Amino acid sequence: MDSIKSPKLIRAIEKVILDVPQTRSENRPGKLKILFVATESSPYARVGGVASVVRSLALSLNAMGHDARVFIPKYGSIDEQVYKTTMVVEGLKVPTDDPANPFLICNVKKNVRGGVTTYFLENMEYYELRANVYGYTDDPIRWALLTRGVLEFISQTEDRPESFVPDIIHCNDWQGGSLPNYLKTVYKNTEALAKISTVFTIHNLKFQGMFDHKNVSEMDFDDGWSDIAPFFDPRLGKQNFMRRGIVHSDVVSTVSKSYAKEITTPEYGETLDKLLVELRGKVFGIVNGIDYTELDPQKDTLLETNYGIRTLGLRKKNKESLQKEFDLELNPDMPILGFVGRLDSQKGVDLMVSVLDRMLDKYTMQFVQVGGGDGWLVELLQNLKKAHPKRVGIYPYPNFTLPRLVFGGADMIIYPSRFEPCGVVQLEAMRYGVIPIVRNVGGLKDTVSNFDTVSQKGTGFVFDDFNDFDLYGAIVRALEVYKNKGLWKKLQENAMQADFSWGYSAGEYEKLYYRARELKEAAQ
Ligand code: GLC
Repeated sequence: MDSIKSPKLIRAIEKVILDVPQTRSENRPGKLKILFVATESSPYARVGGVASVVRSLALSLNAMGHDARVFIPKYGSIDEQVYKTTMVVEGLKVPTDDPANPFLICNVKKNVRGGVTTYFLENMEYYELRANVYGYTDDPIRWALLTRGVLEFISQTEDRPESFVPDIIHCNDWQGGSLPNYLKTVYKNTEALAKISTVFTIHNLKFQGMFDHKNVSEMDFDDGWSDIAPFFDPRLGKQNFMRRGIVHSDVVSTVSKSYAKEITTPEYGETLDKLLVELRGKVFGIVNGIDYTELDPQKDTLLETNYGIRTLGLRKKNKESLQKEFDLELNPDMPILGFVGRLDSQKGVDLMVSVLDRMLDKYTMQFVQVGGGDGWLVELLQNLKKAHPKRVGIYPYPNFTLPRLVFGGADMIIYPSRFEPCGVVQLEAMRYGVIPIVRNVGGLKDTVSNFDTVSQKGTGFVFDDFNDFDLYGAIVRALEVYKNKGLWKKLQENAMQADFSWGYSAGEYEKLYYRARELKEAAQ
């Protein structure tokens, strides 16, 4: 079976995937202890959307009365002068399964911020001495050390005052996939861990480990059921921890309902579609939210001028600062299109550049870009700038403050992704009254609706197929509506009123945690 063709079966799968079922009340014990295990969390270490999701979801769960904490590595870039830490455990011995070098020694420290406790696993060689979060050949060891470090921390401190034995461990992406696997195998008889249920969230199915999962030889194929290789064994780098996370966790979620459906097809399933169909009873989709307190155009201190839904006219001043910042013609009537985010082929940056290149001379518009990433995409942007120096401003490096300038002063953002599990930037943009032009895929499909000039409903411009023609059409539609000030204002209001605060989604995660407990119990 290559793909599912029966509409009846597709509908049945969709139904299961769409909603997290309500759990029987006896399985809803009230307050839960939840531990997020991730490679990044704002504000300490941030590369992509995962960092803000982990942080803001933990904050929301705490506001609901739960005790949600976070566990990440202590990278050298985390400044203990800025984030004061206290020692929780010194000299934690983490087994490696390698007789020649049986333990790695770590410390666990913590920092409490905004009411959320974040634990840091400290190890000089694997985290402290590394300038970046990702990209080392021994990453599989670094993440195995993280997940095993978490399990050792919980079990070794069980009887101590500093203990934290969670009800739920919430793992994220392939880097966290070994945790449910260790828990079900090496630690299956460890008393302290016996009641813990696991949730595994897929933020991006494309990354499954440090190898090319699409071209793996039969000999190296990992079905996820063998033992996890010892830390220093080269086999560890060939094990598919995305697959293992999916197989061994109690429930799996991904960050939008549409992506949850898409990954059950060969087109988006990254070779795991059949597995996901098989396990569909435990796979759910919950859309990401954003932190509405931190991201608020009325209070954002990074903006030149604050504004709200009733004072959209004030954005003019921000537009001027944005034009100044990027050395563009100062013109309040000029529509500014923006791109904020990682420069990755996933995001369709190449498609965007090729379309803009043809449009910039024909239409009255400016374009600004912020965000670092792949070299070949940086080069495309630099060429675009060279070809249209007066119309284009680029900043092809990661930056924390410039995106806010774009949100505060630009009119539209482009997000033409090849695939998109959720996407955070379109949510942030809408919150600031910036209109998204997006492809009808994954989380973009679930969060942006096409603006209809007659009914005046909709929050952006949505196009279907990944090609120049469709994106070109969507941008032209946006530029036409922009000329009608009344319609544009209505569209901005619609976008600003679309609510993507965590309220709803955190409630869905709560249901998911109860469901995980129920499924774990049923499996025993
Ligand atoms: C990954 C996905 C993105 C998602 C984010 C947070 O970066 O590519 O779509 O929004 O994770 O879940």
